[in-house]
Amino acid sequence: MEYSEKVMEHFMNPRNVGEIEAASGVGTVGNVQCGDIMRVFLKIEGDVVTDASFKTFGCGAAVATSSMATELVKGKTIAEVMQITNKAVMDALDGLPAVKAHCSVLAEEAVQAALWDYSQKSGVVIEGLKPPKEEHEHGHHHA
Ligand code: FES
Repeated sequence: MEYSEKVMEHFMNPRNVGEIEAASGVGTVGNVQCGDIMRVFLKIEGDVVTDASFKTFGCGAAVATSSMATELVKGKTIAEVMQITNKAVMDALDGLPAVKAHCSVLAEEAVQAALWDYSQKSGVVIEGLKPPKEEHEHGHHHA
């Protein structure tokens, strides 16, 4: 299994690790296959994500993808964040080994779960956003 330099760099020096106090939205998701857990914190002002952070009990690929995902969502509008798929995150990292693609899904789902939490708390309707699933399997997500 080969990791790109960018994946290794984000794994060694992950950005945005930790909690955001009084976050606008917090999303926690798990992957039933590997048992790993991802939590994403978002600070939202107006319709812009002004800050993002994560905590994970995930593998190195999960750390790298969450690091990149939180970097990508910062400064974006909610509508723009809705367009950021795990594929976009993987591309930004110059790819992930195929067996690790599900780890990047964890980051995407945690961001969406945090947006869901925000919409529940604030009453803001986010177009196209679905409630987080209880169970997570891979295979049916954007490959
Ligand atoms: Fe579980 Fe990567 S193996 S997140």
